[in-house]
Amino acid sequence: MLSRLTRFDRPRPAAQAGALQAIYDAAATGWQDGISKLGFVTAYAELMQATAHRPARHVLDVGTGTGAFANAWVAARGHPDALTLTDISPAMLGAATKRLPTASTRVAAIGDPLEGLPPQDVVLCAHVVEHLENPASALRWLHDRLAPGGMLVLALSRPHWCTALVRWRWGNAAYAPTEARTMLAQAGFTDIALHPFTKGPPSRVSHGYIAHRP
Ligand SMILES: C[S@@+](CC[C@H](N)C(=O)[O-])C[C@H]1O[C@@H](n2cnc3c(N)ncnc32)[C@H](O)[C@@H]1O
Repeated sequence: MLSRLTRFDRPRPAAQAGALQAIYDAAATGWQDGISKLGFVTAYAELMQATAHRPARHVLDVGTGTGAFANAWVAARGHPDALTLTDISPAMLGAATKRLPTASTRVAAIGDPLEGLPPQDVVLCAHVVEHLENPASALRWLHDRLAPGGMLVLALSRPHWCTALVRWRWGNAAYAPTEARTMLAQAGFTDIALHPFTKGPPSRVSHGYIAHRP
């Protein structure tokens, strides 16, 4: 069973390295429209509703794309004192800035130091980790951006035949909940909750998770 699921567990080599930035720069213009039509904007709103009401002064969205996940946070929980958006694609960050003009942006990859950024109350990360060669170290890096007691809201591709089509286009991996939970726990997260998306393509290709730094 596990081997059937884990055949999805590594990104396709063609999507590695600098190629990914060029792919996402080129995709930036139609991105928001595309994810909206597929139902991800609704799915992200649904996931943010599942987060606990708690003060969040510092919020970071990693691999923000056009800012859809961060925007869902703001719509559900209000604008934090400091919202920071990062991405490897300047074109994506440009689109995110139009959506969330008061946010700070940084062209940065997971693993970069993000100098001067204080420990965060909330880290958001949607559909980024599955693009990386070392998802375990990416999750550890996300964990280390959080203040103790902080919360990670994660969207992660899941195995499904639809994901195989997405993967063919984007070269991403996909993780079953058992595997995702193990990786999150090994990264130091506790109180890990799976939040399946309920409708349309997001329910087939992706899962939401909420996890905490102790
Ligand atoms: C599938 S898109 C998701 C965008 C957005 N989070 C959303 O859900 O709409 C992946 C995003 O992650 C960015 N990205 C890819 N590798 C990254 C890395 N190593 N560090 C930070 N961002 C990365 C891409 O440029 C792209 O904008």
